[in-house]
Amino acid sequence: MSQITFHGHAGFEIEGPQHRIIIDPFLTGNPLADVEPGSLSEIDAVLLTHGHGDHLGDGIEIAKSHDAVVVAPFELAGFCESKGCKVHPMHIGGQYDFPFARVKMVVAFHGGGVAGDESGQYSTFPCGYVLTVDGTSIYHAGDTALMLEMQLLKGKVDMMLVPIGDNFTMGIDDAARAVEFVEPKVVIPMHWNTFDLITVDSDDFVKAVGSTAVVQVLKPGDSYPLSVGSH
Ligand code: NI
Ligand code: MN
Repeated sequence: MSQITFHGHAGFEIEGPQHRIIIDPFLTGNPLADVEPGSLSEIDAVLLTHGHGDHLGDGIEIAKSHDAVVVAPFELAGFCESKGCKVHPMHIGGQYDFPFARVKMVVAFHGGGVAGDESGQYSTFPCGYVLTVDGTSIYHAGDTALMLEMQLLKGKVDMMLVPIGDNFTMGIDDAARAVEFVEPKVVIPMHWNTFDLITVDSDDFVKAVGSTAVVQVLKPGDSYPLSVGSH
């Protein structure tokens, strides 16, 4: 059964019929992570939304040890390639049909630094992803502010993964507004409670979303089926 598993912070593993994808695998140093990078099942692709340490995380090591392809914005892909990874660069607005998913890279309003890039030459534009796996479309918003661009996704998303922790990204009120913009069937909060600065109560998010969508709060290690029906 195709499913999505939360690994804490913005990290998700998506298991399709034949492949396994991991997004923003920040495991080492993540106080909420439920797994260590070494104990993951076989991964086919590592998707990165941006280069901050809490997203790039263990991505390079996981990609190399699993011989998985790194999908990332062009500049961040270049950095991962310089570290020995197999990469597939993309950029905002582009879509590509991979064996593991149809992947569209969408905009996110955030910072472009790349952790570990001493030279600064790989500064990148952050992104979100709309993935289609086993007929279900999943929007991982990345680290972002609320933005009108989200309205372009209205009616195209079954499951939305949205940051709620405030300070570095949207907080609860803006995240609830984002859900109104996108109108997914199911919304899963992310990017909260990992650090003191992003501590919020997910129950407040559930209340703020109300009947707009089903809010599924996952604890690290929890899985949820992808079969929420497709648009
Ligand atoms: Ni960030
Ligand atoms: Mn972050």
